[in-house]
Amino acid sequence: MTLPSIVSVPLGERSYKILIQPGLLTRLGERVSGLGVRGKAAVVTDRHVARHYLDGILRMLKKCSIDAVPVILPPGEQSKTLSTVKRILDVLASHRFERSSFLFALGGGVVGDLAGFAAAIYQRGIPFVQIPTTLIAQSDSSVGGKTGVDHRLGKNLIGAFYQPKEVWIDPLTLRTLPRREWVAGLAEVIKYGVIADAEFFSFLEREISDLSKRQPDIIGAAVKRSCEIKAEVVGADERESDRRRILNYGHTIGHALETLGGYESLVHGEAVGIGMVQEADLACFLGICDRSVVSRIRDIVRCAGLRDRMPSWPSGKVWKAMLHDKKVSGGQVVGVWPERIGRVRMMSIDEQTFCHWHMGTREADSRKRSSARGRSMGKGGLP
Ligand SMILES: NC(=O)c1ccc[n+]([C@@H]2O[C@H](COP(=O)([O-])OP(=O)(O)OC[C@H]3O[C@@H](n4cnc5c(N)ncnc54)[C@H](O)[C@@H]3O)[C@@H](O)[C@H]2O)c1
Ligand SMILES: [Zn+2]
Repeated sequence: MTLPSIVSVPLGERSYKILIQPGLLTRLGERVSGLGVRGKAAVVTDRHVARHYLDGILRMLKKCSIDAVPVILPPGEQSKTLSTVKRILDVLASHRFERSSFLFALGGGVVGDLAGFAAAIYQRGIPFVQIPTTLIAQSDSSVGGKTGVDHRLGKNLIGAFYQPKEVWIDPLTLRTLPRREWVAGLAEVIKYGVIADAEFFSFLEREISDLSKRQPDIIGAAVKRSCEIKAEVVGADERESDRRRILNYGHTIGHALETLGGYESLVHGEAVGIGMVQEADLACFLGICDRSVVSRIRDIVRCAGLRDRMPSWPSGKVWKAMLHDKKVSGGQVVGVWPERIGRVRMMSIDEQTFCHWHMGTREADSRKRSSARGRSMGKGGLP
């Protein structure tokens, strides 16, 4: 039997391992005893994920003599609130969980953030294991120890840094992921290539079609490299001062588009896809990279099935939305700009520069649209 790939997250005494292997969820018995799980345990999940994977996990725990309590939450970002955390804490307290009891987070980023936060605060911290089941959770949110919930006044406003004991990734779980969630996750994977690894970016360019067919080995390789890069970045800088900021590439414009669209019209990864292309274009405008960098990023984003064009918001509105983000210093926005594939630079820009670039792209877009209209009319199409 082949062994799982392992990525180590180096955080001193809070270091942990990420295990990655297609089929891993069917052979977890050894890991459970290896981690010292005994006594009480709970599996926090959501309704969609429970339908596919909860019984298997409960059966596996049962084989290890653990009668785990399932906590099944409504799916989606609307559940990421303090009242859902209270619901989890109520279950733990009513079953008299102790400091050594384990919590398993089975699901996407929402479940991971919620369950991780509940684990961080119940009796000042109980051990928890992440079993991520979305591409975002496998390549991003299960690494780095950020846990928490949203507040009426802001996303992820309440939370704690709290590391899991281990992360168990089974790429086969991604087969049941809805297409939109899958494609959105690809944006974050592509991001790692741009910010830190040109070779990984070339691998993605070569394999994007097999990756899009969700071939487990290709997913495994892409998830592993993504985790390695994130682990290296957060290991160097656990509490987000400078180095960790490179992970925000694509997110400065991306977050603004998410906010302006009201979170429903673009899901996070879709906004990041557009953000990566547009931030590369802006970097080219600033003279930081050449046009070929923009083309490569645009091409792979499109091949992944993501959009690359800015929705047509006025420049001032986009700028204001960017200012609301936390990467702001003295009225300027600190962005992450590609110098070339595999290397980024942080630099602030001001409103005038941003609006100058943005108005230029809007004009270019509308010229392209009207010449496309002209061509289709020339072919006898309707105006
Ligand atoms: N902690 C971090 O560092 C970090 C990083 C990135 C994102 N996040 C957070 O993660 C959240 C987004 O995560 P997400 O995109 O995974 O969303 P999600 O957890 O809402 O999952 C998306 C949808 O897919 C369903 N689903 C999950 N796995 C499935 C599977 N294998 N098969 C079928 N359906 C499945 C879920 O029920 C849900 O409906 C946001 O709240 C974001 O803030 C956190
Ligand atoms: Zn993101």
